[in-house]
Parts: sequence; C-alpha cells; structure tokens
Amino acid sequence: MSMRDAWEAEAQNWVAWARTPGHDSYWRFHAERFFQLLPPAPCETLDVGCGEGRLARDLKARGYSVTGVDGSATMVEYARAADPAGDYRLADAAALPIDDAAVPLVTAFMSPQDIDDMPGAIREMARVLVPGGRLCMAIVHPINSAGTFESREPDAPFVISGSYMDRRGYADSMERDGLKMTFTSEHRPLQDYFAALEAAGLLVERLVEVPDTGEPPGSRWRRLPLFLHLRAVKSTGT
Ligand SMILES: C[S@@+](CC[C@H](N)C(=O)[O-])C[C@H]1O[C@@H](n2cnc3c(N)ncnc32)[C@H](O)[C@@H]1O
Repeated sequence: MSMRDAWEAEAQNWVAWARTPGHDSYWRFHAERFFQLLPPAPCETLDVGCGEGRLARDLKARGYSVTGVDGSATMVEYARAADPAGDYRLADAAALPIDDAAVPLVTAFMSPQDIDDMPGAIREMARVLVPGGRLCMAIVHPINSAGTFESREPDAPFVISGSYMDRRGYADSMERDGLKMTFTSEHRPLQDYFAALEAAGLLVERLVEVPDTGEPPGSRWRRLPLFLHLRAVKSTGT
C-alpha cells in the first residue's frame, strides 16, 4: 500500500488525534516553534499535506492567506467542513494543482516524510514558489526515525540497530488517552532531503532541531531532536 493510501485509511483516527487540544506535540510545543520560522504575515501561503487543516486554520488566524492541498479525500472533507470559506484541494503533493511561480510561501508541516515521491513533491513546491519565495517544512528528524530508546528511563541509551543510511518504510502505532493512531512514514537519511532541495533549486537558510521542551532537562527527547524544521529560499536566478 502506498503511504498516501495508508493516510487515507487512517484519516478518521488522525482527525481525532490532531483535533484533541494538548494531545500531541503540535499543541504542546511544535506549532509555536514552526511559526517562528515563517516569513511574517500577511503572506499568500500554500500548505502541502494540510491534513484536516489545523495548521491552515492557525495560520489564517495569524493573518496568512492559505490554500491547503492533501492527498486524502477524507482529510480534505474535514478541512473544508471546519473552514467552509477556505480553499482545500485534493491532489498529490507531486502534482500540485497550482500555477508556476504563484505563491511566496509554501509550508509542508510534518508531511514530507509521509509522501511517497518526496523529491517530486519538493520539485513541485519549488515550481509554485515565486523567485525568492520560501519553503518552510517540518519533518520527523531522521535520527528519530533511525532508532529507538532502549527503555522509557530518562537516561536510556538511544540505539540505532539497523542502518541510518538506508531508507525504510515504517508504521508506528500508538494508543494514548483512548485515541489510536498509526503513522505510516519513510525513514530517509538527511542527505535525501537535501538532495531533493538542491535539485529543486532551493537553498536552506535556516535549520532548527526540535527536542521536546516539555520534558525535564536530561531526559530522553530533551537529549535528541524529535523534529527538524528548515526554511529554504528559491533562487532568484540572478
Ligand atoms: C502527519 S499528517 C500532517 C497533517 C498536517 N500537516 C498537520 O500537521 O496537521 C501527513 C499528511 O500528509 C498527507 N499526505 C501523505 N501523502 C501525500 C501525498 N502524496 N500528497 C499529498 N498529501 C499527502 C496525509 O494525507 C496527511 O494528511
């Protein structure tokens, strides 16, 4: 099954997971860190892999104009229902229904590791950006998806028993506070993302490694980053 189909199959669970305030890292610390990376509002924005639309709604509340695109029909339905005046489109990230050089900002928040054709999607994100426009993206940090902590103890060693370098599809099933969710993603080494950005003509100008700032100092996800944020700029061709 493709990752896109797996996300469609999991869409109802995702909507419950993503919309429960405080339930996941988005609410606790992740979104706020991501907002700090963005060019200021007002700004025409395309959100790729928008899911049920929580980031798009939060960006709109901060003064951005947002079009959302997602590969799951169910996610798009939920996004439209929560924001009837909004523009949410069903499409693959590797074939965006947007004109060339149309927007100054593309966001891809926690979607690139879930997109089957990640290099094709980043090429598309670059195509729709105006020269000098920015791509701001967040992913599961590749060190996170490469390994696991040996236990839940704060000082537990982190072990990479397989290969960091090899791509590997994986499905992480979780159950918390009565909510179930399976995340279907692909581990890719960092160089895969950078190769895709370079091939698309995007130059990274900022990179942030995001630990769980809610955990006590010295504990597991304070010592290693959960997520990686970056901002890249499209060449002006000068
Ligand atoms: C972890 S969710 C993130 C959703 C949203 N950005 C958020 O943080 O609330 C990943 C999203 O990527 C979407 N996705 C996966 N493959 C895709 C593809 N090929 N094209 C467009 N969207 C895709 C999924 O449907 C899902 O909504």
